[in-house]
Amino acid sequence: MDRNLPIGIFDSGVGGLTVVKAIRDLLPSESIIYFGDLAHMPYGSKGTKTVKTLALNVAKFLYNQGIKILVVACNTATSNALPYIKSEFSDIPIIGVVEPGSIEALNISENKRIGVIGTTRTINSNAYLETITSIMPSARVFQYATPTLVPLIEDGWIDHPGMYLILNDYLSYFEDKDIDTLLLGCTHYPLIKKNIKLLRPALKIVDSAESTAKKVKETLEKINILSNNSESFIKFFASDISEVFIDLTKKIMGDYIEINIVEGAT
Ligand code: DGL
Repeated sequence: MDRNLPIGIFDSGVGGLTVVKAIRDLLPSESIIYFGDLAHMPYGSKGTKTVKTLALNVAKFLYNQGIKILVVACNTATSNALPYIKSEFSDIPIIGVVEPGSIEALNISENKRIGVIGTTRTINSNAYLETITSIMPSARVFQYATPTLVPLIEDGWIDHPGMYLILNDYLSYFEDKDIDTLLLGCTHYPLIKKNIKLLRPALKIVDSAESTAKKVKETLEKINILSNNSESFIKFFASDISEVFIDLTKKIMGDYIEINIVEGAT
């Protein structure tokens, strides 16, 4: 395996750029190819079968570019399609966001009572619940679907009073659950970490973007394929683009990025 091949990363949209950013910060010598399946997002409100088909198509696109590892940065795709993708591409390591986030949540929670928020498809898959309790059967997991947050974030309502109103309403679900940790089970939610902190300052927050970046580093180290290239590159592909996503991209990456549109790739 060529250690200087890029890391492939995908998400249903541009939310997965939070994972790109975390990987870039941790592993600046690694090249990255990103694919955002914007033509088909949101995945979170679709059925499992559709999510599986879409995720597999994107994985195929990235695999064919020549990558050394694949990161499924989308929580919905990870929770519904990870084993399926792994069975199709068994010659490269494939990492999803659910396991790293779950491990991190268990590590930082003191009372092992963990709240999880995500899209309807992620929550209904029970992926976080099953992963956390398979690692620690005595842990208590409380999951809640918070589907309105993705469109609010995309529409730029991050600092809007309406965001706080809806977020507060969603977080009230956990009021009597005695959780000390909240796991952000969606690519978009790191963007509202500060809002959650403001509303529930006592909660520890797990952002799966950061824990996934650590897992990627560990995996590359373990199989000895960390890049030694001083000139790394980063390339962005998407199946569609619009003004909303360009704005969001700037918010996440802190700058304009050039996105190559590949129609019909997925
Ligand atoms: N990327 C999705 C996730 O992390 C959120 C957006 C969508 O529903 O497609 O679950």
